[in-house]
Amino acid sequence: MLEMEICRMKMKNPTVLAAGVLGSTASSLNWAARSGAGAVVTKSFGLEPNKGYPNPTTVEVEGGIINAIGLSNPGVEIFQEELKKLEGNVPQVASIYGSTPEEFSQIAIQADNLVDALELNVSCPHAMEGCGASIGQDPDLTTQIVKSVKKSVKSPVIVKLTPNVTDIVEIAQAAESGGADALTLINSLGPGMKIDLETANPVLSNRFGGMSGPAIKPVALRCVYQVHQAVKLPIMGVGGIMNYQDVVEFLYAGANCVQIGTAIMYHGLDVFREITSDLEKFMTRKGYQKVEEMVGLAHE
Ligand SMILES: Cc1cc2nc3c(=O)[nH]c(=O)nc-3n(C[C@H](O)[C@H](O)[C@H](O)COP(=O)(O)O)c2cc1C
Repeated sequence: MLEMEICRMKMKNPTVLAAGVLGSTASSLNWAARSGAGAVVTKSFGLEPNKGYPNPTTVEVEGGIINAIGLSNPGVEIFQEELKKLEGNVPQVASIYGSTPEEFSQIAIQADNLVDALELNVSCPHAMEGCGASIGQDPDLTTQIVKSVKKSVKSPVIVKLTPNVTDIVEIAQAAESGGADALTLINSLGPGMKIDLETANPVLSNRFGGMSGPAIKPVALRCVYQVHQAVKLPIMGVGGIMNYQDVVEFLYAGANCVQIGTAIMYHGLDVFREITSDLEKFMTRKGYQKVEEMVGLAHE
């Protein structure tokens, strides 16, 4: 009942481990797969090793967390070794970042044969200059990067967008015109900040960070709804999903499946089995036989 397909990836259920949460090593990705995720996305990695920002990089706030990890990763060469150790019992997606079309393509080529799809992170709100959201706020650069990666690899290319734009539909259409196979909506929101009362200092070393968790769900849902209306590509919905009710809302808004990040920090990896078992009960109660029957119903 929960099986579905997106980007030629056959998934046993529509829940996916979101990029950056437990996705830095093969063992944590395999663990998420064994815990019931329908597919897994790695932590974003780039061409060269990147230390990211010093601690503190994460802080809890009302309705979620703020993080400014700064895309810390060991670089594609070392990450390839992790990708080789993936058990492959669920579809595997490599999240990559860079600053130019050439750089993205170079990384994509090195990951292409080791995963089932690539997710282009053009949307991180706390990336170093020239990376992340600064790309996904520029429609022309988004198109060029997608085009370049598509020319270089065989794997399906998913483009992850930032909500921090005036018009998300414009950027989604830019990714579509570059040849994207699917979109992931949304990366973390903001940036936002928290200030320590005793020291009067910003808590995060980077001062600002991306917001995730339940507080951003209404924004993510609106992005999915708008993009579903304007673009034909399949969508992975992400942002604040904590339970099966949230998943149903995202499907109704037009997502074909969902990704889950911050909920794992609150509830652990059991969240995948809890959500999928509750979703199945909901579908039985409502008479849905397949997930795809629910996709986009809020538009009818
Ligand atoms: C600690 C942390 C690290 C993240 N790292 C990445 C990353 O490396 N690449 C990426 O595309 N998104 C990253 N994200 C964003 C998530 O994949 C997701 O888009 C966002 O958190 C919203 O979903 P959520 O509310 O379910 O967490 C990260 C989020 C968190 C909380």
